[in-house]
Amino acid sequence: MTVTIYVPCDSGALALGAEKVAKAVEKEISARGLDARIVRNGSHGMFWLEPMVEVETDSGRVAYGPVQAKDVPSLFDAGLVSGGLHALSLGKTREIPFLAKQTRLTFARCGITDPLSLDDYKAHGGLTGLSRALATTPAEIVRTVTDSGLRGRGGAGFPTGIKWKTVLDAVSDRKFILCNADEGDSGTFADRMIMEGDPFVLIEGMTIAGIATGATKGFVYIRSEYPHAIATMTRAVEIARRNGLLGVNVMGSPHAFDIEIRAGAGAYVCGEETSLMNSLEGKRGVVRAKPPLPAIQGLFGKPTVINNVLSLASVPIIMDRGADYYRDFGMGRSRGTIPIQIAGNVRHGGLFEAAFGLTLGEIVDEIGGGTATGRPVKAVQVGGPLGAYFPRALFDTPFDYEAFAAKDGLIGHAGIVVFDDTADMLKQARFAMEFCAIESCGKCTPCRIGSTRGVETLDKIAMNIEPQKNIELVTDLCNTMKFGSLCALGGFTPYPVMSAINHFPDDFRPTPVAEAAE
Ligand SMILES: Cc1cc2nc3c(=O)[nH]c(=O)nc-3n(C[C@H](O)[C@H](O)[C@H](O)COP(=O)(O)O)c2cc1C
Ligand code: SF4
Repeated sequence: MTVTIYVPCDSGALALGAEKVAKAVEKEISARGLDARIVRNGSHGMFWLEPMVEVETDSGRVAYGPVQAKDVPSLFDAGLVSGGLHALSLGKTREIPFLAKQTRLTFARCGITDPLSLDDYKAHGGLTGLSRALATTPAEIVRTVTDSGLRGRGGAGFPTGIKWKTVLDAVSDRKFILCNADEGDSGTFADRMIMEGDPFVLIEGMTIAGIATGATKGFVYIRSEYPHAIATMTRAVEIARRNGLLGVNVMGSPHAFDIEIRAGAGAYVCGEETSLMNSLEGKRGVVRAKPPLPAIQGLFGKPTVINNVLSLASVPIIMDRGADYYRDFGMGRSRGTIPIQIAGNVRHGGLFEAAFGLTLGEIVDEIGGGTATGRPVKAVQVGGPLGAYFPRALFDTPFDYEAFAAKDGLIGHAGIVVFDDTADMLKQARFAMEFCAIESCGKCTPCRIGSTRGVETLDKIAMNIEPQKNIELVTDLCNTMKFGSLCALGGFTPYPVMSAINHFPDDFRPTPVAEAAE
């Protein structure tokens, strides 16, 4: 029987040498005359083990990693094709603790299937959600998504079903589904992993959204820095079209739906929904004032559902298993699972999908394994560049939208970046202000001017120029930005800045002269 060997084609694995590993595996197969084939799968999301090579055995998939091209001959010598033992053996893939502890709903197939095989997709439960959607009414689909408790995974946590209902109820000759794949937050990579590792789940989710709201056209706006995701999504859309999944009669139904892939413009602010629509329309990526809401007057002035990749990719399993199944995971008003992206100075960086409710401490210390440097954790930034820095004292905060908001933080796109005790939080606060100054679209004064004044004032604190007075000035400035900015770029930059000041006051104190001279 032909043996299947998996070598990931995910960007993270490729950056770590997966292409050379695949070539070396191919070479060994032909040199040894083996009956084996290579499948380029997505990543399971354990990046400290990438490139992770797997082989299908009678007792399931067996993993090895991290594998370099030079390790490949010895892996074959050790009997890789039958799961033989080697210094890089990781045992059965599904029993690796980091994977075994997860609840994979949105990422159920990522790393397991061949991303561009529709047959593989179907064999692993794909398209059942869409089939169910086609057998019911748009209102019923919207109700199921609403009842599931799914909230937008792009950052704001807005209930997805309510957004869809507004578009369903809007009367228009044309409606759009717009997938936000700009993924600009620091430490995030979940959207990319889905697009590279299980692109059909996003296509299926967008198609269900189209049927639910009466939209016939979808766009995926992917950041330009994701060439592999753009290529995989483009090919997946072609395959879907060829197989009648997209087009004038979706899966033989009277519903029409098609998707176009667009590359982003390379600006963080183009991830903001109205700026993204401007960019897609060929205009400058500047934020639009709301109202009108995109759901009423969005892309090209038409009612538009704009959702993050993960929000849309979670819909197929909700349609397949039902609202209650999804809703039963989680806590409070944060229902279902959340793909947490663990990054920065951490031992076990990667993607960990779990029901809402794990504490930040569990995520960082137990799942992430603490810092890569082995030094104590000083701070964790949760929610991207606009998220707060949490100290160890807040590690009992459960991963839940409301619990984080209650501590002046946010979950955002669920990226967490770990820092050890060498981090200088004054520098991090300055970085947040500088980031805002660089990325500001320039439309409103608190953000455009405020961020630049913020950088200057933090520089004065660093130079010991009237530090107390300047901390008060930064605090005042942050209040102006928070309440006077048009969008969350200017409005949320105060979170990292003020959390650094409030939780790490020592980093903002003047260095005593004697100490500084030592
Ligand atoms: C500056 C800025 C950048 C953003 N970047 C992204 C992004 O990269 N991806 C994303 O999905 N949402 C991003 N958002 C949030 C979007 O504006 C919007 O809330 C989201 O696309 C809605 O989808 P959801 O309800 O599924 O989360 C950003 C918001 C702001 C203010
Ligand atoms: S807050 Fe900044 S990015 Fe947002 S609209 Fe104002 S200037 Fe533009």
